[in-house]
Amino acid sequence: MGTDINTSKKILDLIREHGTPLQIAFGVRAAENVRRAVEALSPHGWQGNLFYSYKTNPVPEVLRVLHQNGAGAEVISERELNLALDLGVEPGRIVFNGIYKSPAALKTAVEKKIKCINIDAPQELDILCELSKSAKENITVGLRVRPAVGWQGQFGHVIKDGSALDFARRIAGNNKLDLKAVHFHLGSSTAKAYRRAIDETLGFIQKVSGELNINIRALDIGGGFPGKDMRLLTLWEQAWQRFFDRPWPAPVAGPDDGFRVLGETAGYFKQAGTKYGLESLEMWAEPGRLITGDAQILAVKVVGWRQSGKKQYAIVDGGRVGAAGPLVGETRKVSVLGKNQNGDLKTYDIVGPTCMPWDRLFAGVRLPKLEMGDILMVEGAGAYFVPMETEFSFTRPKLAII
Ligand SMILES: Cc1ncc(COP(=O)(O)O)c(C=O)c1O
Repeated sequence: MGTDINTSKKILDLIREHGTPLQIAFGVRAAENVRRAVEALSPHGWQGNLFYSYKTNPVPEVLRVLHQNGAGAEVISERELNLALDLGVEPGRIVFNGIYKSPAALKTAVEKKIKCINIDAPQELDILCELSKSAKENITVGLRVRPAVGWQGQFGHVIKDGSALDFARRIAGNNKLDLKAVHFHLGSSTAKAYRRAIDETLGFIQKVSGELNINIRALDIGGGFPGKDMRLLTLWEQAWQRFFDRPWPAPVAGPDDGFRVLGETAGYFKQAGTKYGLESLEMWAEPGRLITGDAQILAVKVVGWRQSGKKQYAIVDGGRVGAAGPLVGETRKVSVLGKNQNGDLKTYDIVGPTCMPWDRLFAGVRLPKLEMGDILMVEGAGAYFVPMETEFSFTRPKLAII
């Protein structure tokens, strides 16, 4: 996000007050992003079906803004579930995912009657069956499936080989469990991948509904909508960076506008629902980076220099190790607070303060001539920076919201 003079002044004031490294969250931008995402769902009546993925940026001050503007919560741990409840999120606005849900977390979820517990690992079903014995009402659950596109590995039950259907049968075997939703998460994806996954999963829902006589009411398509001003590096780009020690000369903007992907996907879902005879099926979405990615910046300060061969290193007080974990496989825009980005530029490697050789924020980046005390602003810091922070030798960045 660009910074005008007023914003730059506010940022400077915050840095004077809190020091660096500092995460600065922009509440107005986060609220605007929720509004745009809700707008993408509303033509189909699904405006209430947006569940912000807590893992992306579990900052209470930011989460409050998101909830005030209409987002529910997607949580994957006991801590995140309790955080949502502590923030006053209605239990009926909380979806619980993840491959390890502790018995205590499942108990809380059942007692509070949250919107849906998406069962993934088999042991969760055993725990829920136990809990169902004393539950007065049915427990609302979903089933995480694994379509042929997107993340594989340890997540979800495979549709293609029949394991998902077998698992649905096990859930249906307990009449206190109300299998209301099917869920997938593909990882960062394109509109084409969502279309393929939706087709495969709707076929699955049609089969489950027919064979097991279950009334599935929603397909939760997870998150993964591209964030703005950030891009995941391909493996080739990561290898290039690693072996040649140079940045990949590519634009940092993502290939797609995430809001457009979300809107198109919702339109496709509606059409496909009709094709599969599932007209009343709702779509739920759990965006993370789309909502907060570009609503936060990380400010770090130049605290030292090192010349090595032809390379000019600038040492900053928050690096990849402590403050910017995602930069291992992603790119971001960076600028110098108060300096003209279009003037005479020099080439720098920007490294963090720890003793780890990979504590590098940017390689070969072109910036205005740097001086001690300059503030570098890393954009797109609202997705996975905070949860990936470490206290490796230094304290974690503070956070302020404006
Ligand atoms: C189940 C689930 N939902 C939502 C998300 C959010 O993804 P993104 O930030 O790419 O939108 C994730 C991220 O890992 C996830 O695992």
